[in-house]
Amino acid sequence: MKIGIDKIGFYTPHLYVDMNKLAVARHVEPEKFTIGIGQSQMAVPPLTQDSVTLAANAALEILDEEDRNQIDLVIFGTESGIDHSKSAAVYVHHLLGINPHARSIEMKQACYSTTAAMQLAKGHIALHPEKKALVLASDIARYGLNTGGEATQGAGAVAIVISANPSIMELESESAYFTNDIMDFWRPVYSDTAFVDGKFSNEQYIAFFNQVWGQYKEQTGATLEDFEAICFHLPYTKMGLKALRTVLDETSEAVQERLLNHYQISTTYNRNVGNIYTGSLYLSLLSFLEQAQNLQAGTKIGLYSYGSGAVGEFFAGVLQPNFEQHVQRDKHEKLLANRKELSIAEYEEVFQQTLPTDGSTVELDINQDPAIICLAGVTENKRQYVNKNN
Ligand code: CAA
Repeated sequence: MKIGIDKIGFYTPHLYVDMNKLAVARHVEPEKFTIGIGQSQMAVPPLTQDSVTLAANAALEILDEEDRNQIDLVIFGTESGIDHSKSAAVYVHHLLGINPHARSIEMKQACYSTTAAMQLAKGHIALHPEKKALVLASDIARYGLNTGGEATQGAGAVAIVISANPSIMELESESAYFTNDIMDFWRPVYSDTAFVDGKFSNEQYIAFFNQVWGQYKEQTGATLEDFEAICFHLPYTKMGLKALRTVLDETSEAVQERLLNHYQISTTYNRNVGNIYTGSLYLSLLSFLEQAQNLQAGTKIGLYSYGSGAVGEFFAGVLQPNFEQHVQRDKHEKLLANRKELSIAEYEEVFQQTLPTDGSTVELDINQDPAIICLAGVTENKRQYVNKNN
């Protein structure tokens, strides 16, 4: 039985900053951000968007009534969750009107957790082929103003429906994964910004890629030639390229050229959104599915997932007939094109806005936010969410 991605949705907030302007404000050459890091724009979440609303908005665009009835597992991957106890999945389950006979949980292992969620969902569907699973990947990447990581922030979510006989991509069973306890990037529970050993994190991202790619080759006998493209977790778009370059000499010039060209296409949306942590790999996959020309059914795509701390995994998917009818290129291009640019001063102001932590009540102006699902305020330490369609 084929199991894999039946639907894929995406959402990012309506605000962004231009990386050229951020570079000027930080007294850095713009090419460092646009070429050296490889980012053109960076999504900025207003206070009315958090990891719950971003995920709910991403899922809203793909779910129909049949999905709402058939989904019996909701897994929310995030490292910017809003509660240490209650899972973000329960909020989204309610906001989207999914039937109550479902399991809803949140998972964490930095940017890797969505991949674990996909694999668990796959196992669940193997046992219950008539059901569907909703996998949510949603994050707000925050390092802080004027920090080394600032140019690699971002915000957004990807929502994926996993089912039997999927419309978009079958996920293959072979997979190579690796865990090692390292401190490359972490966020203690008392901090709302991440701590990072930047250079070390880059090295480990590549070391884990080499590790799992080597393991995958041993397990499956695969070579680079077997893949039309390899999509990477993209904390910033140059990162995957650095990893890809370390293995290119394993193959012919023609295959190298194909993988490099397709790599660029797979970074299209990420370049204008920034890091969305748990969703970054899947945003890269979405970029490739929606922006590449003439992709055929049967095409194999490699996927490299990395979550600091750290866990890495390499696996693959195979495109299904007419998959292009199940992605939404125009809609996602419009979502990005219709955003509002913030000046650097406006971005800094939005960045520093916070919700109360003393139990006091705040009401937020959701009319300023075009998203359908918004955070409308906080009362007695409870976040108040609104679905404008209800
Ligand atoms: N023109 C073109 N390129 C330029 C340039 C210019 N004028 N000036 C500098 N550059 C290049 C540099 O040569 C360098 O390129 P290479 O890496 O190819 O050598 C690149 O721009 C970046 O320059 P620096 O290394 O000096 O950048 P930095 O030290 O200021 O910080 C960073 C870069 C370490 C990625 C930092 O932004 C950071 O810490 N980010 C957060 C951590 C991160 O994203 N780590 C990625 C792996 S961990 C992971 O994947 C999990 C996750 O999601 C966080």
